[in-house]
Amino acid sequence: MSNDMWGGRFLSDPAAIMQEINASIDFDRQLYRQDIRASQAHARMLAAQKIIREDDAEAIVNGLDTILGEIEAGTFTFSRKLEDIHLNIESRLTELIGAAGGRLHTARSRNDQVAVDFRLWVRDALDALDGEIARLQLAFAEKALAHAGTVMPGFTHLQTAQPVTFGHHLLAYVEMLARDRGRFADARKRLNESPLGAAALAGTSFPIDRQATAKSLGFDRPTANSLDSVSDRDFAIETLAAASLLAVHLSRFAEEIVIWSSAEFAFIRLSDKFTTGSSIMPQKRNPDAAELVRAKTGRIIGALNALLIVMKGLPLAYQKDMQEDKEQTFDALRNLSLCIAAMTGMVEDMEPDAARLKKAAKAGFANATDLADWLVRALGMPFRNAHHVAGRAVRAAEEKGVALEKLTLADYQGIEPGITEEVFSVLGVERSVKSRTSYGGTAPANVRREAKRWLKQLKPRG
Ligand code: ARG
Repeated sequence: MSNDMWGGRFLSDPAAIMQEINASIDFDRQLYRQDIRASQAHARMLAAQKIIREDDAEAIVNGLDTILGEIEAGTFTFSRKLEDIHLNIESRLTELIGAAGGRLHTARSRNDQVAVDFRLWVRDALDALDGEIARLQLAFAEKALAHAGTVMPGFTHLQTAQPVTFGHHLLAYVEMLARDRGRFADARKRLNESPLGAAALAGTSFPIDRQATAKSLGFDRPTANSLDSVSDRDFAIETLAAASLLAVHLSRFAEEIVIWSSAEFAFIRLSDKFTTGSSIMPQKRNPDAAELVRAKTGRIIGALNALLIVMKGLPLAYQKDMQEDKEQTFDALRNLSLCIAAMTGMVEDMEPDAARLKKAAKAGFANATDLADWLVRALGMPFRNAHHVAGRAVRAAEEKGVALEKLTLADYQGIEPGITEEVFSVLGVERSVKSRTSYGGTAPANVRREAKRWLKQLKPRG
C-alpha cells in the first residue's frame, strides 16, 4: 500500500517531488507538544462519551506520553513519507499500542487537528512574548529612572529641536511596548476558542463533547461554526500584525542606537557585549545587534504579508495552501523573541555620555523656544511675534558663532528693546527641561514619577 495512513485507494507511491513539496514534517514537528496535548484531550473525551473504550483511551494517552518522551529525547524517527506531525505521531502510536491507536482519529480530521495545534502553539508563543516584552519594558524603565535628569537634545526631522531628558526618551518606548502587549492580549482573547471537533469541515455524527475538550485545553469555548473553525487563520495573521508593529518599534530604537553610538553622535556607548570589531579597521565598534533587530523587522513584516496573501484567494474550507502558514509564523515569532532579548540586553548595557549629551543639547539653539516662550510670558508678546524675535536672536548668535545664552544683553536689546537681564535665566538647558512640567512633559520630576509608576507595575512581585 502506498501510505499506511490514508493509502486505501492508492496503488502507487507519490513521486519523489510530490513528497518533497507536500511534506511539512520538517517544520511542523515543532507542533509535537500541542499535537500530543490535543490528542490526549480528544481521546479522554471520546472515552467519557463512550465513543471508544476506557482502556483504549488509557493506552492512547500513555502511548502519547511515551512518544512525547521519545521526541524530547531525540530518539523519535520523523518520516517525510508520513507527511506531517499528525501522521508521524499517530503512526508511531499504532506501532506502540496496536489497534487502539487507530481509534484516536475517530470524530476528528487533520483539518481540525492542525487548527487546534496551531492555535495552541500561537497561544503559547503569545504567553511567552508577554513576559519577554515586560522584561524589556523593565529594562527601559530602570534606565529611565537612572537618567530622569540627564539632559539631551530632542529632535524633529533629526534636527535639534528642544532639550529633553534621556529618561523621557526611553519612557516613550515603554508606552509603545505597553500598547504592543495590549494588542497581543487582544489577539489572545479572540484566538482562545477551540476548533477541535469541527472534524473535516462539517462536524461529526459522533456524540462528541466539544465543551469538554475546549475546557481541558484551556480554551474559553468551542468555535461556533465548523467551516470557519478549519478555515480560519485570523489568529495567526492578527498575531503577526501585532508582531510587525512591535518589530517596527524595536527597529526605531535600533536605528537610534545605531545613530547614537556612532563616533559623530557618541551619545551612548554600547559595551563589548553588544558590538563587534572590524576585521580591517581596528577603531570600529559596530552595533551589529541593533542593525540585526532593524533588519529582522523586514522578515517579520514579510511573514505577515505572506500569510495575508496565502489566505486571500482561498474558498472555504481547508486548502493545502494553509500549510504555508506555519513556517512563516514560527520563523517570525522566533526572530521576534530574539530581537526582544537582544534589545533588552542592549538597553541594560548602554551608558549615555551625560556630558556629551548636555553639550549637544546646548548646541543647535535647542533653547530658542524657551526664549520665545519667555518673550510671551515676560513681555506679553503674541507667540508669532516672539517666534520672529527669537529667530532674529538665533541669526545674530549664528553670525557671532556663539550660543543664545552667550549673546550680550546689548545684543538682545538691539533686537528687542524690552528684553531684560532676566532672559538669561531661562536659557540654560537644565532650566528648560525643568520647566516642561505639563502632563506628559519632559521635566525630570515628571520622568521620575512616570519611571517609578512603571517600575511598580512591572517589577515581578515577591
Ligand atoms: N500538514 C497539514 C497542514 O499543515 C495538516 C492538515 C492536512 N489536512 C489535509 N486534509 N491534508 O495544513
